[in-house]
Amino acid sequence: MSKTLLKATNISQAFDYQLFSDINLEVKQRESIAILGRSGSGKSTLLHIFSTFIRPDSGEVELFDKNIYNLEEDDIEKIRRYDLGIIFQAHYLFKGMTALENIEIGTILSGEKIDEQLLKRLEIDETMHQKIGDLSGGQQQRVSIARVLSKRPQIIFADEPTGNLDKETAKLVMDVILEYIQDNDASLILVTHDDSMAMMCDRRYRLENRELSKF
Ligand SMILES: Nc1ncnc2c1ncn2[C@@H]1O[C@H](COP(=O)(O)OP(=O)(O)OP(=O)(O)O)[C@@H](O)[C@H]1O
Ligand SMILES: [Mg+2]
Repeated sequence: MSKTLLKATNISQAFDYQLFSDINLEVKQRESIAILGRSGSGKSTLLHIFSTFIRPDSGEVELFDKNIYNLEEDDIEKIRRYDLGIIFQAHYLFKGMTALENIEIGTILSGEKIDEQLLKRLEIDETMHQKIGDLSGGQQQRVSIARVLSKRPQIIFADEPTGNLDKETAKLVMDVILEYIQDNDASLILVTHDDSMAMMCDRRYRLENRELSKF
């Protein structure tokens, strides 16, 4: 039996204007879904709402059967630390530290071990002792993905995770993430502008005219 990991019901959000209304989405274990849409349509906002960071104007978000915006701050903090893998547009690596030290920050907090095999798959195993500032943009992006996967999250929220990567490396990163969710009974919610990345997911949605529609 596949458990539902994310259930969003009737989500609406406005800032200066109505961004979207009545968004519904359910994602189960081992499922990957892609969200596409024009710049400014609200994709990042929706991802922040799904992942505990923005309480929506209305609607409910359940992660692992818990209504997250009714939880105490401590419980939200635990979910963020142990269960969520957040890969957002800006990757927050510590520049003065090595790649390895950056990954250790994630694993020490969540009590997991670093998976050597994962570093090899992402082709960053030989960069571990270099300072982040000395790595290329694409290598940094892969270090941040390794940091997220190393903490063994149940749901991965990824906002343009392959934005800085060439086609071949982007496909490699997607393969690694998709294998991860199969092997760990996890889920992926991916925001992307790249159709070929979206095609690798199980389902595709477009955020357009304030609605999230499957296509
Ligand atoms: N905290 C906020 N306060 C006010 N307006 C906001 C806030 N966050 C987002 N917005 C507005 O909501 C709109 C959607 O922003 P969002 O970042 O979700 O778009 P996006 O679809 O992710 O775009 P892109 O593809 O360029 O990343 C924008 O007009 C943005 O200015
Ligand atoms: Mg965005």
